[in-house]
Amino acid sequence: MFVLPSDSTLRQKPFVFGVATASFQIEGANTADGRCESIWDRFCATPGKVLNGDDGSVACDHYNRLEQDLDLIQELGVDAYRFSIAWPRIEPMPGQWNEAGFQFYERLIDGLIARGIQPYLTLYHWDLPQYLEDKGGWINRETAYAFATYANKVTERFGDKVVSYATFNEPLCSAFVGYRWGSHAPGYQDERLAYQAAHHLLLAHGLALPSMRNNASNAQHGIVLNFTPAYPLTDSEADKQAARFSELDGGDWFLHPLMTAEYPPEVVAAHTEFMPTQMPGDLAIIARPIDFIGVNYYTRCVIKAGDNGKPDVVEQSSPKTDIGWEIYPDALTRLMSDMKIHYPNLPPIFITENGAADNTEKVDGQVNDDMRTDYYQQHLLAVHNALADGADIRGYFAWSLMDNFEWAYGYSQRFGIVHVDYATQQRTVKKSGQFWQAFLAARAATER
Ligand code: FCB
Repeated sequence: MFVLPSDSTLRQKPFVFGVATASFQIEGANTADGRCESIWDRFCATPGKVLNGDDGSVACDHYNRLEQDLDLIQELGVDAYRFSIAWPRIEPMPGQWNEAGFQFYERLIDGLIARGIQPYLTLYHWDLPQYLEDKGGWINRETAYAFATYANKVTERFGDKVVSYATFNEPLCSAFVGYRWGSHAPGYQDERLAYQAAHHLLLAHGLALPSMRNNASNAQHGIVLNFTPAYPLTDSEADKQAARFSELDGGDWFLHPLMTAEYPPEVVAAHTEFMPTQMPGDLAIIARPIDFIGVNYYTRCVIKAGDNGKPDVVEQSSPKTDIGWEIYPDALTRLMSDMKIHYPNLPPIFITENGAADNTEKVDGQVNDDMRTDYYQQHLLAVHNALADGADIRGYFAWSLMDNFEWAYGYSQRFGIVHVDYATQQRTVKKSGQFWQAFLAARAATER
C-alpha cells in the first residue's frame, strides 16, 4: 500500500509535478512545414538500427493533435509540462529560421499557459539536424557554436514565458550511446569520438548560457543529466573502486566539469588516449553557474572489478521493468545524498524523468498497468526520503505523458501514463495516470 506521510513536502506547493516528453518521440509530421531531416530520421532509415524498422514519421502524431494533447495534460492535473524543441523545425537550413517551426512551439507554450501549466523547455533532446551531422556533428566544434546561436533564437522568441530552460537532455546518451556504444544516432563505436562529442556538448551548453540568461532573465537555466548509481557487488576495495569508477565515467563525467571545471581525474588518468581536444578556457565556459540540475533516474547497476579493475556489470535477478531495467528506488535516494557530498555547490535539483516500461495492453478500454503504478509509488517515497535527508529537490516529472517512440526499441516499449493506440491514435489514461490524477487532486484539495 502506498503511504506517503500527510505532511510530506511532496504534497506541498511549490513542489512541482509534471509529465515529460521529447519532440522526436511524439511529434511525427517529420516533413511538415519545412522541417529538415534529423540524425534520428537517418538512423531509423538505416536497416537494423531500430527494432522492427520503426521510425518517427507518425509517432503519436502530436504535431497534428496539439490542442487535444494539451487538454489531456490539463486533465492529469499537473503543474508543469516538460517538452523539447526540434531544432530541425526551427533551423531547417543553416542560418534559416523557420517561422512555421516557431509558431508550433508558440501555440504549445501559449496553450500551456492558458491552461495554467508551466512550460519546461529542453532545447536539445537528441534530434540534431542531419546537415550538421554531415559536417561532423558533435565531433565538430562548430556544432557547439551553431547550438549557441539556435539557443539564442529560441530564448529570444519565448523569453520569460518559459519557466525553465534546459540546454541538453542526457548529453551522456548523445555522446556515449551515440558514439561509444553505437546503439543511438549517429551510431559510432569509438571511444575517442565519444569523449570529443561529450566535450562539445558540454561546451555548447556553456556557450549558450549567457544569451539564454539575457533573453529570459526570470527563467531558470540548467541542464538535464542521467545517472545510474553503481553498487559494488561485494565490500572489497576493488569492487568499491570499480563501482565508483563506473559512475565517474558515467553521469559524473558530465556533472563533475559543470560543478568543478575539470573532468574526473581518475577517468582522465585511466583513459588518457581518448581524452578530447580542448581549447584554453573551455572548462571555465562549461562550469558557468546554472540554476538547476535536472536528474533523470530509472535504475541502478551492480558492479564488480573485472580485468585490471575495470567495472563489469553484474546482472541482477530482482524485479525489472519490461525493458529489463532493475526496479530499485533506494538508489534514487542514495544518488541525491551522494551528489551533495561530492558537489557542495550543487544547485537545486529537478527530477526531470522517472518512469517504467510496462507494456500492459488495453483490455475492454482499460489499461491496468499495476507494475508502473507501483513503480511510481515507490519512487515517490524515495523522493520523499531524499527530501527528508535534506536534498534540495524542487520538482518531479513522470516519463512519460504517453507511450511513444522509444529510440532503438521503436514502439515496442511503452512508458506512458496514457496509452496510445498507434493504429487509431486514440489516447486512454492508464491506471497509473489515474493514480497521478488522484494524487495531484488530493494535493490540490489539502491546499484549499
Ligand atoms: C531517457 C530519455 C527519454 C526516454 C527514457 C525512457 O534516457 O531521455 O527520451 O527514452 O530514457
